[in-house]
Amino acid sequence: MSPSRRIGILTSGGDCAGLNATIRSAVYAADTLGWTVIGIEQGTAGLLDRPLRYRVLTPADFSGVVLRQGGTILGTTNKGDPFNFPMGDGSFRDRSMEIIGGCRELGIEWLIGIGGDGSFAILRKLAAQGDLKLVGIPKTIDNDVGLTEVAVGFDTAVTVATEALDRLQPTAASHARVMVLEVMGRDAGHIALSAGIAGGADVILIPEIPYTIEGIAEKIRRVRQAGRNFSLVVVSEAVKTADGQPLQKTFSGGERRFGGIGDYVGSLIEDATGAETRVTVLGHVQRGSSPTWRDRMIASAFGVHAVKLIQEGKSDRMIAWANRDVIDVPLEEAIAHYHCVGMHDPLVRTARGLGISFGD
Ligand code: F6P
Repeated sequence: MSPSRRIGILTSGGDCAGLNATIRSAVYAADTLGWTVIGIEQGTAGLLDRPLRYRVLTPADFSGVVLRQGGTILGTTNKGDPFNFPMGDGSFRDRSMEIIGGCRELGIEWLIGIGGDGSFAILRKLAAQGDLKLVGIPKTIDNDVGLTEVAVGFDTAVTVATEALDRLQPTAASHARVMVLEVMGRDAGHIALSAGIAGGADVILIPEIPYTIEGIAEKIRRVRQAGRNFSLVVVSEAVKTADGQPLQKTFSGGERRFGGIGDYVGSLIEDATGAETRVTVLGHVQRGSSPTWRDRMIASAFGVHAVKLIQEGKSDRMIAWANRDVIDVPLEEAIAHYHCVGMHDPLVRTARGLGISFGD
């Protein structure tokens, strides 16, 4: 018999498809052991508020639809580092002890954090300070968490981006245009690379491979010379301008996010080739939607393994997918090994083998 446990679970950082499937899996697995799972609302923000925002989760909370739903039933936040919390008047305060106090009030000893590397770094600090035992489940459409082949949400984002290319191709052909698709991914080009290959792109621009406009234009001219009247270009949001500047937008509260590289590349292409060019920015569409079967499967495997780790008393570990297996790795190492596209990535080789240009 396992000792009775009271587990907190939260989703942290940007949302993605498959979060509900992950929560469900952990709740189902914990229920088989008779444990209590407390869902913390809005990431760590739910532990900052008083009264605390949480709900006890049982399998009954997961009607048939939740597994299939995008978003997160618990809510999440991708701002407000509790160690340096913006107070709204321009000042910052360390509010970490309020979060730890919230966990103690709820009797939470074990915490499952579903997040990316930024969230994991914060949760580890909280765990160390508050004597909490932490297990991390990687999720992010960017797929940039180290030591795992895949994070929850990536497959759905790539599927959405691929479908966007499927929809752009016929209209590109009808009008003999160059279609530029800007996708998310932060500093990692995984979405652009996978969707670009799957969606038949002619050019894929990713932050890891520097391009020149001549490199892009050359490929588009060659496509035309070979008798095809349209081209598809995928550009990852963190690709820089030709002179090395990141393009960003500022949102309320001073939040900076990538944005604008699609338009920038589109007008460069038009100037360099004379081809009529249109730009689509896919944006948060990549984060919504029902999770693909693969994301549901990965989410389910990760949730079950997280509960198994807790049963074995192993903390400060992250669940990972490696070589067709579900394993766990030290959280610290996963955070330290940021995973962007490597020059020898098999998909870079694949793209080059297909004649896809990186604009280099
Ligand atoms: O990290 C996930 C992500 O969707 C990135 O790909 C993107 O740059 C960012 O979050 C967008 O953040 P926000 O939801 O705050 O606009």
